[in-house]
Formats: sequence, C-alpha cells, structure tokens
Amino acid sequence: PDVRPLVAGNWKMNGLRAALDEIKQIADGVDGSLSEKVETVLCPPSTLLYVATALAEDSPLQIGAQDCHHHNSGAYTGDISAEMIADLFASHVIVGHSERRKDHAESDALVCAKAEAALNVGLQAIICVGETQAERDDGQTLEVLARQIEGSVPEGARAENTIIAYEPVWAIGTGLTPTTGDIAIAHEFLRARLKERLGDEGARMRILYGGSVKPSNAREIVAIAHVDGVLVGGASLKATDFLAIFGAY
Ligand code: G3H
Repeated sequence: PDVRPLVAGNWKMNGLRAALDEIKQIADGVDGSLSEKVETVLCPPSTLLYVATALAEDSPLQIGAQDCHHHNSGAYTGDISAEMIADLFASHVIVGHSERRKDHAESDALVCAKAEAALNVGLQAIICVGETQAERDDGQTLEVLARQIEGSVPEGARAENTIIAYEPVWAIGTGLTPTTGDIAIAHEFLRARLKERLGDEGARMRILYGGSVKPSNAREIVAIAHVDGVLVGGASLKATDFLAIFGAY
C-alpha cells in the first residue's frame, strides 16, 4: 500500500536558543510542494518544544519530543509526560531510542507503556528498535527485532498513530550504515512481524531507517522496499543538511 514517507529529525541533547534560527529555516524549507510528498517532524530538546511549535505554526513542519514518562503527572522529578508534550502543540514523541534503552535501562515493557501513554493523549509514537554490534556479530539481529516489536509496540497501535524506526545501534553517529541489502532484510522482516501482530494496520505502518543518514546516502536508502522514511540525528542539526535530505524524494 502507498504510504506518505516521513522524514524525522532528532536533535538529541543539542540545541540552545541560538538554534531557533535553524528551526525557522527548516519550517520555511519544508513548506510548499515538498510537503505534499513528504511529512516532516523535528524533535528538538524539550526545552525548545514550546517555542518550536510556535515557530512551526504556519508550516507543515510538525514538532515532536524525544521521550516521555509513562504516567501523565505525579512525583517524577525531571520527567515530562506525554500529556505535557501534547499540551505544547507537539504531535509526536520518540520512545525507546537506543540511547534511552542503554543509558536509562529502558525495557521493552517500559517503552511500550510510554508509547501507550503517547497514543492515549493523541500523540504519534515513533518507536525505535535495533540491534547492537554484539547482537549483530552473534547473528541475533532478527531475533532482537522480533522481541522489540513484540514487547515495545502496544496492542492499540495503528498506522495513523505509530511509526517504527529501525536504528542499528552501531550505525548511530558512527558514519557506518548497513548495506542496502541488510536494510532491506531488516525492513522486510519488521513488516512481516508488524503484519502478523497488527494485521492491516501493521501492513500500512511506516518503518523508518535511522543511523548515519546524510544527504549523500539518503537517496539509496529511501529507495529500499519498506523504507518509509528516515530518522536523522546529526544531519538534522543544520537546516541546510536536513533540507538536503529531502532531495532524496
Ligand atoms: O535518532 C536518530 C538516530 O539515532 C540517528 O543518529 O543520524 O546521528 O546517526 P545519526
């Protein structure tokens, strides 16, 4: 089935007030004919969320957060909830990024609870999965992906509110990318698992590739079957680089 591709940028822990200019440039850059072909989400740090949604108000650029708590409110110092993110007019939230899974010991069950919290308040969840270098070396890639899809994607996930991002951990920020053949195998496998779990919703759910995507490799990556967009880290920080990635479409 035809799906509208999604290009998402994840700024991670980058972005001071001075970077608002980049957000404005991105908001202006994705306006117009481009937005009919490709959907765009930018996920700045939570400190910039409110002003980012204001800057993107008249643009098709959508704004997302990088994580959320699985409860709506309460005594959770330092956390922000999906409800708070939605309250700032953001539309998406990334959950289960490998940096969260590793640095904050987030389990599949917790990632699933976060995704559920996001869906409950009307946010779209971008759920990340992906194997580590050690798991890949062990030949465990598909087994890991199966486990993460099973454990991290909530029952109620639909194609309209959930996006999967396949990010091989060893390809993040390293400049290394899997071969197009390896990406194809992973995405085909993810598609099959999603269909098995969610039926037609899984058949239409977008699966993004993430890990060292840049303007020079985006074209060949988005041409791979079942790659319905990309999740971009480093190359989303500069508006010119990020916008150059849209040249792939
Ligand atoms: O969420 C984004 C990914 O972790 C990719 O990061 O493009 O800097 O490799 P990267």
